[in-house]
Amino acid sequence: MASHTEGIHIDVYFCWWLPLHEWKMITIRLPEDLISNMSLHSLLQNKLPPEKFALLPKHFEVIGDIAIINIPHSLDTEKHLIAEALSFQRKDIKTVLRKLNKIEGAARVADFELLLGDRTTTLHRENGCVFFLDVTKTFFSGKMYYERDRIAQKVNDGEDVLVLFAGVGPFLIPIKKQRNVNITGLDNNREACTFLRQNLELNHIDANAILGDARNVNKMFKTGFDRIVMPAPYGQDFFLDIVQSVLKPGGYVHFYTFKKDFELPHFRRLLEEKGWFIKFYRDCGDVAPRVKRYVFDLRLRG
Ligand SMILES: C[S@@+](CC[C@H](N)C(=O)[O-])C[C@H]1O[C@@H](n2cnc3c(N)ncnc32)[C@H](O)[C@@H]1O
Repeated sequence: MASHTEGIHIDVYFCWWLPLHEWKMITIRLPEDLISNMSLHSLLQNKLPPEKFALLPKHFEVIGDIAIINIPHSLDTEKHLIAEALSFQRKDIKTVLRKLNKIEGAARVADFELLLGDRTTTLHRENGCVFFLDVTKTFFSGKMYYERDRIAQKVNDGEDVLVLFAGVGPFLIPIKKQRNVNITGLDNNREACTFLRQNLELNHIDANAILGDARNVNKMFKTGFDRIVMPAPYGQDFFLDIVQSVLKPGGYVHFYTFKKDFELPHFRRLLEEKGWFIKFYRDCGDVAPRVKRYVFDLRLRG
């Protein structure tokens, strides 16, 4: 298969009304938008030896016009070919980043290698809102859009809402866009807070954006909240104990945590022992082999 300036040209053999040995080869042209739907694997099928082809990543994440892909070290020499194929497949992609390690550190940001393009900032659209961010400086995952909308639907007008670990605002902004609430977002990453403030303006909404440590919520707020949304970082369930001091009686908490399947019954029992009533919980998808993100909608027993 060869690509030319206009669309994609492929060679096919036909025609059906002749005996097999007389079939002719002709070249036909496919429009580019049709070929852009072909997978990365199809595009690279005859370009890599089979042992390397087998190692090609099956997925990549798209945030705005940036694609983020995990390419194993055994494909180091093919990394630019893979990036080119990816941007060929998705014409909306302007930057391709290779994720170099797992998400680590307090800011929950990975290290990246720029394979294609010249910027790491982007404008991402989700749930009728826009988010400007630099994917190398703040955490963002487009996979949570359903959850963010689900939470926005739960909120009632007039509530005082706190979004801990607010990042660039993907939970906070849709809530405030749809509901008449007093809402506060808190994050300890300075860059995340700066983007959050810009995103409040971009979406024409008014909210408090605080740069601070969630460990100190009890000292920061004099009055309580009707609802607290907390997409807590990996392994930091202790924040659920901390927020009790700023939750109004009868208030709700939407708590995100990471668990292996076998840990779930124990965790549910633990929540109940600590006085939480589990109104609802669900699996929000895999984050690592055998590890899933779960959300728990909770209320403190009176
Ligand atoms: C899992 S991310 C969630 C970000 C965002 N809510 C989202 O869904 O994209 C966790 C966020 O918590 C922030 N964070 C981590 N530890 C914190 C702490 N002790 N206090 C405040 N924010 C913290 C990080 O900077 C990061 O933005």
